[in-house]
Amino acid sequence: MATPVVAGATCSLDDYLAMPDYSMDDRIAAAREALGETTVLLGHHYQRDEVVRFADFTGDSYKLSKIAAETPAKYIVFCGVHFMAESADVLGRDDQQVILPDMNAGCSMADMAEISQVEACWETLVRAGLGETRVMPLTYMNSTAAIKAFCGERGGLVCTSSNARKAFEWAFARAEKILFLPDQHLGRNTAFAMGIGLDEMVVFDPWQIGGGVTAEKLRVAKVILWKGHCSVHQRFLPEHVDHVRAKYPGIRVVVHPECRWEVCQKADALGSTERIVAEVEQAREGTMFAIGTEIHLVNRLAKEYAPKGKRVITLDDTGCLCTTMYRISPGHLAWALENLVQGQVVNRIEVEEDVKHWARVALDRMLEIRG
Ligand code: 13P
Ligand code: SF4
Repeated sequence: MATPVVAGATCSLDDYLAMPDYSMDDRIAAAREALGETTVLLGHHYQRDEVVRFADFTGDSYKLSKIAAETPAKYIVFCGVHFMAESADVLGRDDQQVILPDMNAGCSMADMAEISQVEACWETLVRAGLGETRVMPLTYMNSTAAIKAFCGERGGLVCTSSNARKAFEWAFARAEKILFLPDQHLGRNTAFAMGIGLDEMVVFDPWQIGGGVTAEKLRVAKVILWKGHCSVHQRFLPEHVDHVRAKYPGIRVVVHPECRWEVCQKADALGSTERIVAEVEQAREGTMFAIGTEIHLVNRLAKEYAPKGKRVITLDDTGCLCTTMYRISPGHLAWALENLVQGQVVNRIEVEEDVKHWARVALDRMLEIRG
């Protein structure tokens, strides 16, 4: 049996992780109370229930970044993934500190674009005669701060799934083409919804010479899509939509725009996690939904809306778990909070100053265009 841990004592993370999740509840609540208004706890919709129920605010990436930019709290405990905590640090004041309860909570999509690869891609574009005046780099929030800074420095900006269209419009008002990083699906879905044909988009593969695309194709394309994806959302297939429609006539299919274009085309609606929550909330009693997004959010919606006469199922029964979001456990949260009570900041996320400046420019541009 694990050694009992005295609440508030500074002990190793392993001690916390050896204890059952439920035993952390009172400790998290007590630490939260002791910290009062000095600390704000942000929870992304994909967090597990045992963690997200302690959040002061829940939301999608856009909403949480806005809250991070506006909160008076000194400590921002981010129950989400690394790029979200980085953005909170970029947007926060100098006297604020951002904590990610588990440093291993990354995002596999964000990892698909490294700054050296993006710089090499840009050189390829410049060699093809496509400099800054013709191409605007636009990055999804799900990217490292270095890539956000890369975009900011070249006149570009950041977007989330809730404001991608506005960001595209902003970019097209200032440049002929967009280089969209790192999610090819969000980029394709957004551009297509604006009337840009699939034949006007090319995919740049950072693992191939010249991106695996000719200079001529780059010159004629309107949107250059980075070859990145979310492994959770890419698993949804058009067949899943056909299957639920055949099985449950009248079902409403709502998916996240990180899903493939073929899936989004068959869906009734697409939107960010916050938009998905709103879809279910605003629906009439008796509506049935198949949702194409991470399983924790789907299960939470199913549980919350069943008593209100709305049925929610996952678009794909095999379930899609974001393993990195899942890494933040009650033990990690209790450890981070109890250390804070003791005056110790653990797992601080701190973006380097030179990166911070341009990343902030790109994020501020996003906040200015709104969601
Ligand atoms: P949202 O901005 O919709 O919350 O999406 C974030 C994310 O990582 C989805 O996979
Ligand atoms: Fe990244 Fe996909 Fe997880 Fe979202 S669901 S955090 S895009 S891996």
